[in-house]
Amino acid sequence: MSNACGLDFGTSNSTVGWSRPDRPAALLPLEDGKPTLPSVIFFHAEDPLVSYGRAALGDYLAGYEGRLMRSLKSLLGTSMMDDSTEVMGQAMPFRKLLAHFIRELKARAEQAGGTTFSHAVLGRPVFFIDEDPAADRLAEETLAEIARDAGFAEIAFQYEPIAAAFDYEAGIAREELVLVADIGGGTSDFSLVRLSPERARKSDRREDILANGGVHIGGTDFDRALSLARAMPLLGLGSQLRNGKAMPSSQYFDLASWHTINYVYTRKAWSVVMDNYRDAADTASLDRLVRLIRERAGHWLAIQVEGAKIALSDAASTELDLHRLEQGLTLTITRDEFDASIDKLVARTEKTVQQLLVDAGVDGNGVDTIFFTGGSSSVPLLRQRLAALLPQARCVEGDRFGSIGSGLALDAARKFG
Ligand SMILES: Nc1ncnc2c1ncn2[C@@H]1O[C@H](COP(=O)(O)OP(=O)(O)OP(=O)(O)O)[C@@H](O)[C@H]1O
Ligand SMILES: [Mg+2]
Repeated sequence: MSNACGLDFGTSNSTVGWSRPDRPAALLPLEDGKPTLPSVIFFHAEDPLVSYGRAALGDYLAGYEGRLMRSLKSLLGTSMMDDSTEVMGQAMPFRKLLAHFIRELKARAEQAGGTTFSHAVLGRPVFFIDEDPAADRLAEETLAEIARDAGFAEIAFQYEPIAAAFDYEAGIAREELVLVADIGGGTSDFSLVRLSPERARKSDRREDILANGGVHIGGTDFDRALSLARAMPLLGLGSQLRNGKAMPSSQYFDLASWHTINYVYTRKAWSVVMDNYRDAADTASLDRLVRLIRERAGHWLAIQVEGAKIALSDAASTELDLHRLEQGLTLTITRDEFDASIDKLVARTEKTVQQLLVDAGVDGNGVDTIFFTGGSSSVPLLRQRLAALLPQARCVEGDRFGSIGSGLALDAARKFG
């Protein structure tokens, strides 16, 4: 079926795959020949131009005036979904922003495939929202409505880790009990599945899926934790007011979280910062904060912190160049500091896997393989701690950014083929 696609709308990156008869599932090129489109939108302030993906990040970093949005998926199922952000002097509802992005994904995939996609299997995390089934349902319904508005006549959902399992299964020779660990930008999702070439041919896979689990922790949470631990103190987090009280912290939390950075540019936030400035015991760090807000450099700083996190997957320490905040300012971050900042998040992720094993009634020693996918599966501490739960399992590396989209494409062919 060429009019069915698999659509992986990710917190950080999105892909679209298709699976045609007698050909392996393939991802469609979405930007500059690459199969991923970073889930980013930039609205230019001066004209009605909207850019997406790497181009959006590029326009923002090149200094064009406008509004950058990342981590849109994090809004699904939250009360922020009914809020708006200011775009060219007008209130743009977040829902509309999401619709813009999904439409763009569809249009680019259709352009690349030379076809129209009327049917889609959309990936979804095991939980959009932790421990709130009503909000979780709302998140899926909202995404479904947006996808239908974007022009898909029929859609179905599949758990992202199950999609990754299908992708892995396409390349194995015999039966394995596999824990799929998809550690993305917004969520960590897990499935314990029995996979084999024979089982792959069945249409009903329910008995092969022993358990699913997930938690709303991903790379963007690691960015926030690292930012709060190491970058925000440079801007005044943890400092004191003249009356001895602690500096109010809400603007630092907004700045450290991708989807709330733009809040710091509102008039309301500015007046809070000015009050804090007047009351601060030492204004040097607040000077940096003021400069960052004036230059709309919140995303720039978050990008530096994310870059440091990524560098720390391979290096013991890394240095950030923060000259935009203050001439000559640099910040050195070590792997140990990063590990300490994410320790609690990693512990919650471990608990999620432990619970999943209990739900499945499977001992950790009985699992043959851990299939890692998602960009954040490269974080060394997380990998080590998850691998330690399954001491007999072989660790296999998926296509970190493509497994879900390819697996969704296989599922789309099965469901709509
Ligand atoms: N080498 C690396 N080390 C650590 N983190 C990385 C690395 N490369 C990418 N990341 C992080 O991976 C995340 C993006 O991963 P991915 O594209 O799998 O997420 P996503 O699919 O968009 O999110 P989700 O599935 O949670 O909605 C980002 O937070 C990014 O910073
Ligand atoms: Mg993902």
